[in-house]
Amino acid sequence: MQISEIFRNNERWVAEKLSGDPEYFTNLSKGQAPDILYIGCSDSRVTAEDMMGLNPGDVFVHRNIANLVINTDLSAASVINYAVVHLNVKHIVICGHYGCGGVQAAMGAKDLGILNPYLREIRDVYRLHRKVLNEIEDDDLRYKRLVELNVQEQCINVAKIAEVQKAYRRSAITVHGWVLDLTSGKIIDLEIDMNAVLRDIMEIYELDL
Ligand code: CO
Repeated sequence: MQISEIFRNNERWVAEKLSGDPEYFTNLSKGQAPDILYIGCSDSRVTAEDMMGLNPGDVFVHRNIANLVINTDLSAASVINYAVVHLNVKHIVICGHYGCGGVQAAMGAKDLGILNPYLREIRDVYRLHRKVLNEIEDDDLRYKRLVELNVQEQCINVAKIAEVQKAYRRSAITVHGWVLDLTSGKIIDLEIDMNAVLRDIMEIYELDL
């Protein structure tokens, strides 16, 4: 991949968009009103808009290693706050993926320097669900289950945020947990019952709003 190739690609992309609609960029530049906030992994194989068949302007995106919503991460918190309060998104999607290197690294003992404290968040997910995970004998299946449980825990982290709780109370927002299966390209909806999850944890996290 040459960088010059990207600029040629870009010229082609601009020409294609304009041939379909001469006002495409004029309209795009006027502002955004996406319905979806997508929080996914930085993994180069897990694209956001592309795999959902969506276009520029459709999705507000935040990506980091292993799609984490860490409680004290100002970047993720700002993205979520802006999406919920100012863009009024209707859906927050947390999308993990099987084959996630971040999740795999957190299952190993290797010293990864600055990544250690970051990946410890996933080890915490493992500890929370240790009983269920340790009962899975097959390494690959256990790893897949951790990917799913990590998504579920990040959905919970989203629900801890005051502005999300307010929007939930108005039934203005839904949180979804998904996993992309890279071997098939298919998005799997984990069908996490967020209302049940919220009922379960709200005695701890509910804010007086
Ligand atoms: Co990943």
